[in-house]
Amino acid sequence: MFEKITVVGAGNVGATAAQRIAEKHLARTVIMVDVAEGVPQGKALDQWQSGPVEGFDARVLGANDYSLSAGSELFVVTAGIARKPGMSRDDLVRTNAGIVKSVGAEIKRAAPNAIVIVVSNPLDAMCYVMREATGFPRERVIGMAGVLDTARYRMFLSEALGVSVEDIQAMVLGGHGDTMVPLISYTTVSGIPVTQLLDQSTLASIVTRARNGGAEIVAHLKTGSAYYAPSAAAVQMVEAIVLDKKRILPCSAWLQGEFDLSDVYCGVPCLLGRKGLERIIPITLTAEEHAALHASAEAVRSIQAIV
Ligand code: LAC
Repeated sequence: MFEKITVVGAGNVGATAAQRIAEKHLARTVIMVDVAEGVPQGKALDQWQSGPVEGFDARVLGANDYSLSAGSELFVVTAGIARKPGMSRDDLVRTNAGIVKSVGAEIKRAAPNAIVIVVSNPLDAMCYVMREATGFPRERVIGMAGVLDTARYRMFLSEALGVSVEDIQAMVLGGHGDTMVPLISYTTVSGIPVTQLLDQSTLASIVTRARNGGAEIVAHLKTGSAYYAPSAAAVQMVEAIVLDKKRILPCSAWLQGEFDLSDVYCGVPCLLGRKGLERIIPITLTAEEHAALHASAEAVRSIQAIV
């Protein structure tokens, strides 16, 4: 258990993440920071009061500044505006870059040794902004995207196959956008290659639906974007770090030559433990997947160039 975890942003993703962190006993104190007066305080107190029912002892506190967050071991940054129907994640870049930059400066002041998990969109570019703003090493600035994209892909596969989601192993790499790269060659169902169980066209339509997974939800909600699965995905990364689990999860990482890519944030298989990003796992890709990963990284690079 960590002493203190701070969630920045008390909107739907942030508040749900804070609740999951408390319910999973991952920190003694969970702090929610948001600029909206009263919102983090009110949501935090409400969550804290669920402790006696849910059986957690974490204190959940809300604040409009970072004074309570001093020395926080981990930050989950969800601050920023969300998409509306018809918008791509990249449409958020200018507004959210300003927000993430100021959050980064606050984190650097309040907790210079913290690990930061970025959730704000456009995800990969926001990781870049966070790393620049904090000056932290890549081990401590990691982006949440691949776990979410993979969860959507696994859910759709489980539905098509009529088997448990738990038996579907998969990884979606690349940037968190239309160019993301679900790896069919690494998708197995209890070890059975998925290509033995589903035909090409079914697989292709699942890949497309997973790619558009976020937009499908935005189209339903109209006034916001997804938050149950995004918060669950972020907290799976938190858990891997807090419990030093050494899990291999697809996360956005600052690449320095891995997969023949450099100076760009992109989703790749990452080993997460107490130190944050402890290792990037090199894997062999098919020529097609390698090309798709590079195309996705270049799409991220063009957004990174704006910020
Ligand atoms: C999504 C947003 C959170 O994919 O990017 O739902």
